[in-house]
Amino acid sequence: MSLENYSIKMPKAVYNGTNSLNRIPEIITAIQAKKIAAFTDKGIRSLGLFDLIEKQIKAAGVEYVIYDNLPAEPTYGQVQTVIDEFKGSGCDLIIACGGGSVMDAAKLASILVTDEYGVKELLDDPKRGKKCIPVIMIPTTAGTGAECTPNAIVGVPEKELKIGIVNDNLIADYVILDAELIKNLPRKLAAATGIDALCHAIECYTSNKSNPFSDTFALEAFDLIMNNIVSACDDKTAMLEKNKMQIAAFYGGVAITSSGTTAVHALSYPLGGKYHIAHGVSNAMLLIPVMRFNEPVCREKFAAAWDRAYHGELRLITVEEKSKALIDWMDKIVKHLEIPTSLKEFGVDPKDLDTLVEAGMGVTRLLVNNMRTVTAADARAIYQEVLN
Ligand SMILES: NC(=O)c1ccc[n+]([C@@H]2O[C@H](COP(=O)([O-])OP(=O)(O)OC[C@H]3O[C@@H](n4cnc5c(N)ncnc54)[C@H](O)[C@@H]3O)[C@@H](O)[C@H]2O)c1
Ligand SMILES: [Zn+2]
Repeated sequence: MSLENYSIKMPKAVYNGTNSLNRIPEIITAIQAKKIAAFTDKGIRSLGLFDLIEKQIKAAGVEYVIYDNLPAEPTYGQVQTVIDEFKGSGCDLIIACGGGSVMDAAKLASILVTDEYGVKELLDDPKRGKKCIPVIMIPTTAGTGAECTPNAIVGVPEKELKIGIVNDNLIADYVILDAELIKNLPRKLAAATGIDALCHAIECYTSNKSNPFSDTFALEAFDLIMNNIVSACDDKTAMLEKNKMQIAAFYGGVAITSSGTTAVHALSYPLGGKYHIAHGVSNAMLLIPVMRFNEPVCREKFAAAWDRAYHGELRLITVEEKSKALIDWMDKIVKHLEIPTSLKEFGVDPKDLDTLVEAGMGVTRLLVNNMRTVTAADARAIYQEVLN
């Protein structure tokens, strides 16, 4: 008898809860860091969020340099520019405070201290990157799970695509989840990033790569998100629900290390790469059409996800009923959160459909994970649905 092979990867330590930012000096001391590279962006600095981290670094009494010259959803060239600033700084610890864009850039920096290769070379040969510097991740959105995945996603303008660089050395060492950082997240951003986390959960659960390890995290993330995302987005005072979203986003990232996302993320990448639609928004648009497309082959799993996450009065019996109810529930949440639902709002022309399909079908890394085979005609029909 041969037993099934699967694995899961985790940061060394994850700190959650009120005042968990206070852990920063402790970590700095434990790893005897002398000089810190703090990655963030100008938006986060202008909101005063980085001040909370700066206060802790100062308390540790170490030198630090701030790198905040990073736009949202950067291209590989923009990430390389920040890394070039940082290289040679002599920093021996990176602290990233931001959303997925900042965290991905910081992760790449942590394996690119050397001059031998840059982000472009990693795109061609991701496995080349070796861990050089430890990283503390402090997410300011509750969505990407980038704080714990081995992926860093960058725009590749010449391919009009976003591409994920995957290397286990990109997994961060420490993660701090403090709801203070997402307290004032604008509703639109909380909604789109929260739906990104929902996609990670349901895609990992219904992926060809799903396994008992990934299911544990994906299902818990799914349950937490389905039952907390609305309050976390709608109610500024709902700190408990916001923290649950942070935990769920982290779990979604852990599930990615063991399983993988599927057709929602695959078809989403060209929308980010060519039309610069925010990652969470393009995923939210594609989520329901892809779930409906997948339903015939994912029915049992959708029914199990319903049983796990639905805690209300409705008593459904058959797999078909539960599976349909699950998709309707997700649809209701996406609609409630008022995330744009049509590509037209982003200037996508029906004439672009062919290039979009070609680019989407090129994301084979994720399409192979989809339980239902996606043909070019299927991808076209899914894009067409969100073009109306
Ligand atoms: N590495 C991974 O595993 C992974 C997974 C999913 C997505 N991603 C990538 O992450 C990026 C998206 O990250 P994101 O959705 O977290 O957004 P983001 O990092 O791109 O940030 C979007 C904007 O929100 C602002 N912002 C961030 N936190 C805020 C806060 N608390 N309050 C107010 N404004 C805030 C930022 O300043 C920025 O202008 C994309 O490039 C996507 O491809 C990576
Ligand atoms: Zn995502």
